[in-house]
Amino acid sequence: MLRVVVLVSGGGTNLQAIIDAVAAGTITNTEIVGVISNNPEVYALERAKKAGIPNLCISPKQYESRDAFNRALLNAVDGFQADLVVLAGFLVVIPEMMIERYRNRIINIHPSLIPSFCGTGFYGLKVHEAALEKGVKVVGATVHFVDEGTDTGAIILQKAVEVQQGDTPEVLQRRVMEQAEWMILPQAIDLIANGRVEVVDGKVVIN
Ligand code: GAR
Repeated sequence: MLRVVVLVSGGGTNLQAIIDAVAAGTITNTEIVGVISNNPEVYALERAKKAGIPNLCISPKQYESRDAFNRALLNAVDGFQADLVVLAGFLVVIPEMMIERYRNRIINIHPSLIPSFCGTGFYGLKVHEAALEKGVKVVGATVHFVDEGTDTGAIILQKAVEVQQGDTPEVLQRRVMEQAEWMILPQAIDLIANGRVEVVDGKVVIN
């Protein structure tokens, strides 16, 4: 069984997609062993509680320095004996010591087709605002491994979604979630849980 820890900062709809896929058996060989939030208020923590998943909040505000927060976050992940760390809308920069220890064992969902609309400052609704501002006709989502850069790690899965006339950022965000994120994030976890994802020369090969 792949032991998965999910890191969240928001509403947790991607977390819910993972919980539902494990329950439905579309993610196999996987146990969600913990959920960690950096914010005590978020609805994602409620979702974890409702699903009976151990959960906790580690907020930078509880620590005197960034370094102390980083160590606490890493300790919490270690404490769950995680095989895979899933960033499901986690808006905190992952400490380098965690990236090193969990090399090719941290994945992130990003709401664009990387390398478009990604990197520093591109998160949540801002991604969709930028896409509409540019006038692109196709957007989408990407699941990738996390390395030292921002949204630069090896790409595991991507799915395209069409922009429609009159879309607002909120409407587009919802469509990208429904048609891409909630599908490819569970799919990627299932592939990893079944040993089908390999990184060769910095690129993902699916076996
Ligand atoms: C999702 O759209 C996710 O792709 C995005 O935050 C949202 C979280 O929603 N992540 C990023 O922008 C990361 N750069 P959720 O809490 O409902 O899953």
